[in-house]
Parts: sequence; C-alpha cells; structure tokens
Amino acid sequence: MAAAAAACRLLRLAPRRLPSTNRLRFPPPLPTPLAAASGRRRFCAAAQASAPATAAAGEAVGEFRKRLRVSDVKGGEDEGAAWVGKELAVRGWVRTCRAQRTVTFVEVNDGSCLSNMQCVLTPDTEGYDQIDSVTTGASVLVEGVVASSQGGKQKVELKVSKITVIGKSDPTSFPIQKKRASREFLRTVAHLRPRTNTFGAVRSYSLPFLVARVRNALAYATHKFFQDNGFVWVSSPIITASDCEGAGEQFYVTTLLSNSAEGGCLVKDIPATKDGRVDWSEDFFCKPAFLTVSGQLNGETYASALSDIYTFGPTFRAENSNTARHLAEFWMIEPELAFADLNDDMACATAYLQYVVKYILENCKEDMDFFNTWVEKGIIDRLNDVVEKNFVHLSYSDAVELLLGSKKDFEFPVKWGLDLQSEHERYITEVAFGGRPVIIRDYPKEIKAFYMRENDDGKTVAAMDLLVPRVGELIGGSQREERLDHLEARLDEQNLNKDSYWWYLDLRRYGSVPHAGFGLGFERLVQFATGIDNIRDAIPFPRVPGSAEF
Ligand code: 4AD
Ligand code: MG
Repeated sequence: MAAAAAACRLLRLAPRRLPSTNRLRFPPPLPTPLAAASGRRRFCAAAQASAPATAAAGEAVGEFRKRLRVSDVKGGEDEGAAWVGKELAVRGWVRTCRAQRTVTFVEVNDGSCLSNMQCVLTPDTEGYDQIDSVTTGASVLVEGVVASSQGGKQKVELKVSKITVIGKSDPTSFPIQKKRASREFLRTVAHLRPRTNTFGAVRSYSLPFLVARVRNALAYATHKFFQDNGFVWVSSPIITASDCEGAGEQFYVTTLLSNSAEGGCLVKDIPATKDGRVDWSEDFFCKPAFLTVSGQLNGETYASALSDIYTFGPTFRAENSNTARHLAEFWMIEPELAFADLNDDMACATAYLQYVVKYILENCKEDMDFFNTWVEKGIIDRLNDVVEKNFVHLSYSDAVELLLGSKKDFEFPVKWGLDLQSEHERYITEVAFGGRPVIIRDYPKEIKAFYMRENDDGKTVAAMDLLVPRVGELIGGSQREERLDHLEARLDEQNLNKDSYWWYLDLRRYGSVPHAGFGLGFERLVQFATGIDNIRDAIPFPRVPGSAEF
C-alpha cells in the first residue's frame, strides 16, 4: 500500500465534502480577467464570449470538472486515512464479490490505480436486492462513507449506503474469470483484457491494465522531454508515396478494390495497363500509395525550418516477422535535430531514454513494484542503472571484432559487412557490457538506408543503433546525408527513383544543414520498461501477421 500511495502522489488532494457528481474543478481557476470577473473558469472560445445579443438563447454547457477517482482517495501518504467520515461515490467495475454471513465485500476498481476500493455492504444497504447482479465485470455506482478498514490489506474502505448496478455482466459467460488466464488467451479477448484482475497477485491477470498505465506515462514523459527541450511536435502523414527505409515493407493504400461486385472484388475489375500490371493512375491518389514505415523524411522538412522537431505516431511494416519484437503496426518517436551530427544524436537519444525511464520510476511506483515482483525480478535496479550509468558506444567494426572474439556459437554468421542479428545485439548489451545500453555506430553503407551520411572512409555511414538488454535494437538513427551529390549517388546505388524523392532532394538544394535524428519503437520501449517478454502485450490491439482482430 505504501507503493500505492506513492504511485498516486501526483493526484493527492485534500479531502473535503464533495458535490454529488464527485468532480473536482480542473484545471484550477486562473487569475485571468475573465475568471476573476465571473468567479469561475468557463471553457468557451473568445468569440462565443462576445457573441451578439441576437444569438438564439440556448442552455450553457456545464463546467468541466475532473472526476474524483480512487487514486485521489487512497493515493496519499496516509492511504486515505484523512478521508474517514467523508461521503464518497465510486464508479467502476467489480473485481470480486465475497458474501459472508452478515456482510458482503465488493472490490471495485475504477482504473485510476492498481488498488480497488473495498466496499462493504449489508442486507440493509439500499440496492442490496440487486446483489446477485454484483458479479465480476459488472459496472456499479457505490455511494457511502469512508471508514477505517478492519482488514490488514487497506487503511480505508467504503461503508456503502447505496449500490446501483449500471451494467450487468453475466458471470457464466464473462470470459475473464477468477482463474489464471494465460497471456495468449488474454490476447484473444483484447477488448476485455484491460479489465483483468489483480487478486492473488496472479500476474497474467493484471498485465494489460498495468501496461496501459505505464505506456501512458511513457508517452506523457516523451512529450514532456521534447517540449522542455524546445522541440516542436510535427504530425507526419500516415499515407505516403515514398518508402523511407527503401526496404519495400509497405502496405498499399488503395480504393481499386472497393468498387466491386457484390460478394467481393473481382480480379478482372481491377484496372490494368496494357502489359498486365495494376493501373495505379486509376487509383485514389493516381499513383501507388502506402501506409508509412517512418515519419522521418517529412520530419526532416520541418526540422529544416523549425530546427528541432519530433514526430510521435503510428507506423506500419509489412514484414512477415512473427517474433516477440515485431509488430505490423507500431508507434514511433522520431526526433530530428538541425545543425547536429551523430554525436549530438547519440547524446539526445541517451538523455531521452534516461529521462523517460526516470519518469516512470518516480511516477509509476506502484505499477513498477508489480513488474519488479511478478514480471521481471530486479527490473527496478536494472532501470536505475540505465538512468545513472553512462551508455557505452563502439563502432560496428569493433562490435564485429568483439563478437568474433567471443568464441560464442551464434546461429547467424558474424562477418564485417553483414547486419547484426538480434542474438548478436543481445550478446553485446547483455553479456559483453553486463546489461548496459550500448550504441553501435558507423555501419557498412550497404546494409543501411539511402539517407544516412557517408563517412570519410567511403565504406561506412554515420548510423547508430541503440541496443538494450532483452529487446536488442530499441533505437535506430543517423546523421543525414545533407550533400546533394552524395545523396543522389546513394539513391542511384540503391536503385531508388530519384524523381519520387524530388521534394526530399530540394531540402539539400535550398539551405541544407547538417542534421541528424533517430526513431524509437514505442512498444519496444514499453517492453524494456516493464519487462514483458512479448511485444504483443505492449500495445492494446496488436497487429501481426495473420491477426487484425478487434
Ligand atoms: O531502425 P528503423 O527502421 O529506423 C527508422 O525507421 C528510421 N527512419 C528512424 C529515424 O532515423 N527517424 O526503426 C526505428 C525503430 C527500431 O529501432 C525499433 O525500435 C522500431 O523502430 N521498429 C519496430 N518496432 C516494432 N515492430 C517492428 N516491426 C519494428 N521495426 C522497427
Ligand atoms: Mg533499424
């Protein structure tokens, strides 16, 4: 419970008698002239505030108030003791209902923290006649008075004066029962898995719930890091005509298949050219279009004007990799720094990773304690090391030497010029450097994308991959080729059509600057920060080969 207190400290509030809606004013009133004049803060646009008197009279929209949550009550240092005697209403979902001879205990969770509110009912409680419907998964409104708890598990509980069942949940068919459910099974009920339980601290029950909360904190910390450091968030497009990585792992976006006969598109109706190929000129965008594999190229355009930017959005890869580290749809964070080289890029990646890890250690204590106990023993120490110790960096050539010198029997060959495989990456970070994050830089140009800056040796590019234990590659980045002639030569070398990159080449024609950036796979970060082994549990609705359910 001490951990519960710490986790919710951010939301700590002084107890007071609350209005029946249980909502707190949010955000607090600002000392603006408008707020001062009216005495309350309203959410309305300036134009509306001065709307002409002739406008039709309607009812004013209500004031927005933050709803009081279980974490607000139980999350303080005193674990809710100061609330004893206060009235409270909790809206949430029933985790368990235990009927004893004279009292019934209902554990209600509203998602604000791992802790439930223990609600105590007696046959005299208003609404007790509905007790048969108070089953696992049902949604309820419980109203009552906070009291000191007799049980040792929590400081306070709710003596319920009234219970209202809002939505029933048939106990015989509700898929998530009070028994251990495997993670594989829970993925088949991804729409209900965030409501899984924590009773008995059975780890598979509570993972999706906890992961969602830590994922949220990592996203918040990501924006905070970049915003605090003067980066501008840029929305890169999801539909694109270019292939940033040049690896041909793109999903087509087309309407050619939609105007079809009843029962499905007939192949004969797909427009074709004389030589039998799909005629993309007939398609929605009049050319082939894809879901983006990376927002980088578009990000570079805005870095060429705003200096430091970042993107944070979904990306898609049609690679047929059925591994615990690959998704077909994943979120990527891609900062781009103008007037920067590879060293600046590595420094930014290091500072960013240390910042977000520190953030969750400080702000998700209750959740992290759970991961530490049930998912990966020692993860908190491991993450503390990430925050405190310097990252190591070495060149690709040195990494190859290191692997060759290890005398370890790897499944994939190790040779200068070949890409490093996951087993190599994990050996380097987990074994050779004892769990420290490692940055490998200056890779052979043949195995890296066209946009990476060629080094003076003519053989390598200014690329870097940041490797972490268990996950392997977490970040891939590079200094970009800012010299027009070199970039054109690289496009030619990789048989890429220069014409389709005309706008990207323009950045090198007009006011080109040295610049660098990287991409971090957000789900791999969630994996790294929580210790979960499968990336499919790091995102609410995983998309992988053969599965796009929900
Ligand atoms: O190394 P990648 O392919 O780099 C890029 O896309 C660059 N355009 C980034 C940049 O410089 N702006 O991908 C970046 C990261 C990887 O390090 C990995 O963490 C993640 O994206 N990633 C995946 N995550 C989940 N599933 C997949 N299929 C992934 N492919 C890459
Ligand atoms: Mg990569």
